Amino acid sequence: MSSIRKIIKTILPLEIKELYILKRKKSNFKKKTVKETFDLIAKDNFWSSGESVSGPGSELKHTKVLITELEKLFEIHSVSKLLDLPCGDFNWMQNVDLSKVNYLGGDIVKDIIEENKMKFKSENIKFEVMDIITSDLGRQDVVLSRDCLVHFSYNNIVKTIKNLKRSKSTYVLMTTFPEITKNKDIISGEWRPLNFDIYPFYFPKPVVLINENYQGKERYKSKSMALWKISDLKIPLRLRMYCVLYRIFN
Ligand SMILES: C[S@@+](CC[C@H](N)C(=O)[O-])C[C@H]1O[C@@H](n2cnc3c(N)ncnc32)[C@H](O)[C@@H]1O
Repeated sequence: MSSIRKIIKTILPLEIKELYILKRKKSNFKKKTVKETFDLIAKDNFWSSGESVSGPGSELKHTKVLITELEKLFEIHSVSKLLDLPCGDFNWMQNVDLSKVNYLGGDIVKDIIEENKMKFKSENIKFEVMDIITSDLGRQDVVLSRDCLVHFSYNNIVKTIKNLKRSKSTYVLMTTFPEITKNKDIISGEWRPLNFDIYPFYFPKPVVLINENYQGKERYKSKSMALWKISDLKIPLRLRMYCVLYRIFN
């Protein structure tokens, strides 16, 4: 074995194991782009909710607390420019009082955005096709990203964080599960809970943490939206190195 391979195996044993598992995994999403993956998910109503194409987590029964808490947060933090990315089908967000906010909803799926425009567009509520990984996000007070990174590979999460930083927006409000004790990598399009407090992210303590009072399985009860200052988010070196290896092997 070459000395470089030996070094990688000594410093990054966990990462090598994850890459090996991912490489061997069978998944419908494996050879697809992120756009192809989520177009397919929307077309097939893959998450099987009768209420929302964005899945059971976007149903009203799971978002009641969030609706109230968001209104308070917008008030306290004087949010005037809000980017909701991804907005999905706006199923629960239509119940949030957005009257004092310039709201832009973005999603990678064109059909979802077209339907939102027809149903919900108004003076202060706009929709646009956007990719959180690559699009210019504009300078926002808050980028709200609910139930998004939980569907991304670590590689796409890192790209998203870099894109958020590029936007020079102030805050990101996104999904985290503070009681989950182990994170794992996935193929983008799949799902797993993520805890941003722990390996491989080690994000700082959020400015605000809203527990959503999730009504489903006990092990996901800590599902929350965490508000971070984007400038406080750093990508640990080890995660950067993992992403370099990921790109080499994929
Ligand atoms: C589980 S839904 C959540 C939607 C919404 N945040 C909510 O809470 O109802 C995930 C959404 O992310 C969108 N999506 C996936 N990848 C994306 C990307 N790279 N950029 C923008 N939207 C994306 C999907 O099309 C889907 O509508």
